[in-house]
Parts: sequence; structure tokens; C-alpha cells
Amino acid sequence: MSRSLHHLFPPYPLADQRSCGGELFEAAQRVLESGHYILGNETKAFEQEFARYLGIGHVTGTANGTDGIELMLRALDIRAGSAVLLPAHAPSAVAAGVRRAGAEPVFADIDQNTFTLCPESVAEVLKQQRPGRVRAVLAVHLYGHPAELGALLELARNHGAMLLEDASQSHAALWQGRMTGTLGRASVFSFYPTKNLAALGDAGAVATDDAGLAERFSRLRQYGWKERHISGEDGINSRLDELQAAMLRVKLARLDAATLRRRQLAAVYDARLGGLLGIATPVVRPGCEHVYHQYVVRCTNRDRLLTPLKAAGVPVAVHYPVPLHRQPAFAQDRHFPCSEEAVREVLSLPLHPHLSDEAVHGVCDVIEFTLS
Ligand SMILES: Cc1ncc(COP(=O)(O)O)c(C=O)c1O
Repeated sequence: MSRSLHHLFPPYPLADQRSCGGELFEAAQRVLESGHYILGNETKAFEQEFARYLGIGHVTGTANGTDGIELMLRALDIRAGSAVLLPAHAPSAVAAGVRRAGAEPVFADIDQNTFTLCPESVAEVLKQQRPGRVRAVLAVHLYGHPAELGALLELARNHGAMLLEDASQSHAALWQGRMTGTLGRASVFSFYPTKNLAALGDAGAVATDDAGLAERFSRLRQYGWKERHISGEDGINSRLDELQAAMLRVKLARLDAATLRRRQLAAVYDARLGGLLGIATPVVRPGCEHVYHQYVVRCTNRDRLLTPLKAAGVPVAVHYPVPLHRQPAFAQDRHFPCSEEAVREVLSLPLHPHLSDEAVHGVCDVIEFTLS
């Protein structure tokens, strides 16, 4: 199979921008002409529209998702001396955000099927911790699949900790009919240009139903100001800017259609790859609606697939190559077998709403040919 498929895979950020026609340009023009570039009407409108979309009381825009994690923890007074439990298989940004708040990341293993926190492992890790040290369990809805929120909520509660959510990869994913990012005490979103809801630069948000907490988010994202020029506490500068907020409003209006298309393409992959030996397609737990931020398969011999896929011009990737407890910045002498196995086996096949069926069939042809 030597045919190059490269032309079938337009990069997502560019294709997503183009799919919006002239609307992004019109929105940008509106901001440019407004003369107001930071914390103006666009940010306010996006925060309200996204809160309504999620079904949550308050959304506060931030400069990016990592800052969002820091702000969320600081607003909840989770700082030095506290720990936050998170999955060992996750982007390093999550642990970096926890550290930035001054807290210590403590890891637990993932569920083998869904790549999200394993409740049994969480229970075991919590048992080993000094009472009161772990202040929060941070569930990451990895690849767009909701974590097991019911079990995690109960475990956190029994330990006297709170449940927080990182919904940076799960915009519009549902757990028991409710949007991810609305079930914990607070949640964080990234709108990095590759995300399902994507800005044209860095952007993020924190969300909560608690009006007092939302007010604290607003103060902390702007120098800790309790009123203009008067800092009531230590804050940072992490504001969502007007241009990105305007871009996000255009994209938000298209999120449902984009999610539907992601699911259609995932179904094509599932149907073609489901029965093949040597590869396992994503599992969706009952009661969950996956949004396929990534379409991640497990391969018993990943290199055997990587080589021909790359040779055919298919943009495949490994999310993520090293578990957090094995990374120099966060190293912990622990063994998390499912996370350690995941990094050896996972392979992200291309999936975004602007791909054709032909592109997905082309990937499946290469895989089928290689494994047969
Ligand atoms: C799950 C998760 N959390 C946090 C982040 C950090 O977001 P950002 O890159 O906007 O800082 C990302 C994205 O990189 C992410 O995927």
C-alpha cells in the first residue's frame, strides 16, 4: 500500500477556522472596531453563553487551561501543604497547574478501558494519605470520555475532599445526561486550538455553580483586585481576551454539529476496526456520551502500525508517551500498571469534524492490510 493519504488530512485548527466561513472575520472586525480588547462585552457574552450551554451558574474566562487549574485551586484555598489526586495518565499540564497553585500532585491509576481515574486505585491511594492532606480529587475526562463521576464523588466525599473536573478534552460530553464540567465543586476547560471547542490562540475557563467562588475566580484572574487598583489578595493576570472570546462564540454555535460529526466518524472506525486482532477500539461506558476529542485505540504492537500509517501520510500521535509519575518534574516511586501499559499501547487515529469518510476508510485500509 504505497498511496499517500496526506491530502485527506487537513490540520484541524485550520479546517475548523475555514468551516466558519466569514463569521470569524466579522467577529474579529467587531472586536477591533470596539476598541475594547480585555474583559469587555465579548468575554461577558461568551461566559454567559457557555454557562447556559453547560447548564451551570457561572463561567469565568482565563488565559488558558493551566492557569484555570491554578486559579481553581487557589480560589478553593488548596495551596502549599495540600495535595490533589489526579490520574497518572494525563497531560502534564494538569500536574503543572496543580504545582503552580503550590499544591502537590498525588497520582492514582486509570481504568484500563476508559483511561479515566480508576475508583479502586483512588480508594487505595486515599487510604495511604495522611488525613486532610488530599483536598481534592481532580477527574480528567481524558480523550472526551467522562470519568466515573458517581464513584469518584462518593470517594472524595468520604475522604473529606472535593471533586473537581478537568473538562479540557470533553466539551459537550455527557455523564448520566449531564454535561461534564458541571458535576464537581468546580471545573476547568481549555480552548487550546486543537480542542473540541477551540480558540485561535490560548484560552480557558473555570466554571462553578457557587456565586461566591465565581467571584473569587474573577478577582484572582485580575491581580486579586477587590476593586479597581486595590488588590485584596495575591492574584495573577490570566484574563480571556476579547478576540478569543469572540472567536469562541462563533465556534460554540457549531459545537453540537461538530460533536455529532465526530461521533459519526468514530462509528466508522468502530465498525471497520472492531473485529481486528491486535487492536482494541474505544470503550464507552453505559450512561456516558463520548465526544472523541481523540479516537484512541490500543495496539498490542504499536510500532507495527505506526510505521505503515506514517509512511502513508496519516497523522497519528501518541497521547501520552510517559505517565506523570515517571516524568522528572513529578516523579513518584509508585507502580500504576494500567497507566504504564497505556503509554505503551495507545495510538490516536486522526479524527476531527472536518475529515471525510474517505479519510477514515483510508486509515482503516492501512490498518486492515497491516494486521491481516
Ligand atoms: C486535560 C487537559 N488539562 C489541561 C490542559 C491545559 O490547557 P492549556 O494548554 O490551555 O493550558 C490541557 C491542554 O493542553 C488538557 O488537555
